[in-house]
Amino acid sequence: MVLSNTSNMLQCLHGLVCLSAVVLFVTLTGTQAECPVQLSQKSVVVEYGGSAAVNCTATVPHYGMGWEASEGGVDKTSASVITWSVSDLTEWDIEPFCYINYNKSQAKPCEVNLPVTVYKTPDSVSISIVKHSGPMMEGNQYQLQCDVHDVAPVQNLTVKWYKGQTLLDQTTFTDTIKTPVNEMTTLLIRPDRADDGAQYRCVAELKLGAEGPQPPPTVTSQPLSAEVHYKPKHSNSTETIVKNEEVMLDCTVKANPAPTYTWHSEHLKEKSSSSKLPSSTLSPGKYTCTAENSLGKDSKVFIVEETDRTTFWAIVIPGVVVALVLIISYVIYKCKCSKNSVI
Ligand SMILES: *[C@@H]1O[C@H](CO)[C@@H](O)[C@H](O)[C@H]1NC(C)=O
Ligand SMILES: *[C@@H]1O[C@H](CO)[C@@H](O)[C@H](O)[C@H]1NC(C)=O
Repeated sequence: MVLSNTSNMLQCLHGLVCLSAVVLFVTLTGTQAECPVQLSQKSVVVEYGGSAAVNCTATVPHYGMGWEASEGGVDKTSASVITWSVSDLTEWDIEPFCYINYNKSQAKPCEVNLPVTVYKTPDSVSISIVKHSGPMMEGNQYQLQCDVHDVAPVQNLTVKWYKGQTLLDQTTFTDTIKTPVNEMTTLLIRPDRADDGAQYRCVAELKLGAEGPQPPPTVTSQPLSAEVHYKPKHSNSTETIVKNEEVMLDCTVKANPAPTYTWHSEHLKEKSSSSKLPSSTLSPGKYTCTAENSLGKDSKVFIVEETDRTTFWAIVIPGVVVALVLIISYVIYKCKCSKNSVI
């Protein structure tokens, strides 16, 4: 306990020393940042080949100031407003700074850096399915690949995956390289029947902050239209149909490729390859329809019953018969009674 407390205190002391060092360092760099100059912009975002101009303005009398840069520098001058300007910027890693000599006793001039982000939108963004061509099978896994060509800086790149309008996934990059690179991202998908015809896209977006172009530049791939093959599957496996002029036995079901239909029943004399049969032409009984494509088949059973009118008579006729039997029995009983009473 005591030992660990002591070590904690040592750590704390060590931390304090470090902290003071950091504070001291920050203060020192702080004084440097407090050069008596003002930049017209804190940072610059410029497209490769584009132009930019930033003023450095002295806020005190001085003995000379200038811009140091690999492109667009300004030699030491006695002027008080100097402009770093480039047109057709062809430098990926450019670090301009404005310097000023304002104090005779100062050995080194005071410097202010101008952070510059040079960007380039991708030449192309393309989407493909890895090691596959043609339709996809429902339930199988596939890998989509997005290739982004010649983009900079990669640390400001986001590659997004969309299915229709839905964002599926996105990737960012931590590489700090400033020159253009090619990037590749992948996405695993397991398409189902609802994805048949879905459009997959990938989008490369350069997030360049408030100083950058608005909205952020994006390049979108051609859409990849998914063709998904799946077998037929009815939502109900049986259905009861009451015969009617308008009612059909409807076996229609979605499938890709489109299914073929066959009907089986002891009541059917002719074969039918139609997806629907009119109930009015059928005698009551069981009819089985099978929908089939290259991936599989699914059957559905229809039970055809007589129309409501028949059902009505089926109830009325026995009723009438029972009533008649009752009346006749009563009459016979009455007759017997009266005979008995006579005898
Ligand atoms: C820079 O200063 C010049 C001269 O004062 C002025 O004409 C120009 O508009 C300024 N440019 C920027 C970007 O502030
Ligand atoms: C570029 O990305 C880095 C890392 O995410 C970020 O710190 C920086 O501000 C971005 N640059 C711009 C100009 O927004």
